[in-house]
Amino acid sequence: MGPTEPRVLGDQFALFISSVVDYAIFMLDPAGVIVTWNEGAQRIKGYRADEVIGRHFSIFYPAEDAKNRKPDWELEVAKRVGRYEEEGWRIRKDGTRFWASVVITALRDETGRLRGFGKVTRDLSERRAQEIQHNVEREREAMQLRAHAERMAELERTKSHFLNLASHELRGPLAVIRGYNSMLEDGTIAAEQIPAVARIVDAKLAQMDLLIEQMLETARLEDDTYELFRDTFDLRDVAQEQVDVFRALARDHSLVMAPDSGPLVVEGDRARIATVVANMLDNALKYSPGGGEILVTTGDRGANGFVSVRDEGLGISPRHLPLLFTRFGRLPTEQNVTIPGTGLGLFLCREIARRHGGDVEVESKPGVGSEFTLTVPLKSR
Ligand SMILES: Nc1ncnc2c1ncn2[C@@H]1O[C@H](COP(=O)(O)OP(=O)(O)O)[C@@H](O)[C@H]1O
Ligand SMILES: [Mg+2]
Repeated sequence: MGPTEPRVLGDQFALFISSVVDYAIFMLDPAGVIVTWNEGAQRIKGYRADEVIGRHFSIFYPAEDAKNRKPDWELEVAKRVGRYEEEGWRIRKDGTRFWASVVITALRDETGRLRGFGKVTRDLSERRAQEIQHNVEREREAMQLRAHAERMAELERTKSHFLNLASHELRGPLAVIRGYNSMLEDGTIAAEQIPAVARIVDAKLAQMDLLIEQMLETARLEDDTYELFRDTFDLRDVAQEQVDVFRALARDHSLVMAPDSGPLVVEGDRARIATVVANMLDNALKYSPGGGEILVTTGDRGANGFVSVRDEGLGISPRHLPLLFTRFGRLPTEQNVTIPGTGLGLFLCREIARRHGGDVEVESKPGVGSEFTLTVPLKSR
């Protein structure tokens, strides 16, 4: 090696450094004043060499960091242990922030005297943005997975709820029917009592039928295999038919039909609308154990026809109202311990009504009575 070579190499090296564009590479004097600048520094930080050389490097730091003398502290660390390294926010000339990877190296001469610092800065904004984007995506995927898992767990719970309910609610009437059957077998029931027993058995079978039907309907809704038939019919006929059916069952109640309202032609699933009315009547009877009047009114409110059923029964406390139309939403009342039911009735009523563009609403006063109203859009002529 000739004596000039290091000098030449140094020049070439300085040239190389000055043209690096991906990294800001520059030198500070021992006090932190900028003494060199390169292409990369200009590209990343936005300052030309003549704008920064001679200034303190704390201009690259957020005001808060500069105020806390963080830049000086970094130099102090570099001085003591040789280098300082971090990722953090830095400020461009135009005031915008970027996420930087920073290395500060203490530069000493052969005698160990501090000559200054070399500083290499990389703009990681893009990488950081990608990382954030990546995290957002991962978080979204995780959320979807969690939602899926919760849905599966909910379905599991529903299934076991169904099974419990089915076995519990079907056993009751089954036991009654089995009891009467064995009495019929061994002749305990007198011939003249048979019609009365047959009526009880009929009622129990109807209870089982209703339960099975409600569970099937709920399952169809869950499955999205629920299809409405489209008939054109008069709401008043449906109401009258159901009142006739329930009048036969009512002992302590008087079922009253309000004066006729004029035609209420609607379009929809007649059998299912009939089920809604039946459910409202069934509830009115069940939840007024003391008897009383049950008034059924039909009429129109603007574009909707309605059927309402008003009872003089137990009524519903306002705090229980949100439960009414939920699946399995039996109210936690004293009376419900002895009154049979699944809590599916009103859930299905509202679902059916809403799928017709209508609704089921309630007004109730505890101890006074309740009024449930089904609305269905009238068919436009
Ligand atoms: N007319 C009513 N009067 C008082 N409470 C009612 C009436 N109708 C419904 N409820 C309350 O709302 C709950 C949900 O009704 P429903 O969905 O038909 O289920 P179910 O009759 O099978 O219990 C019932 O358990 C009952 O507590
Ligand atoms: Mg009911």
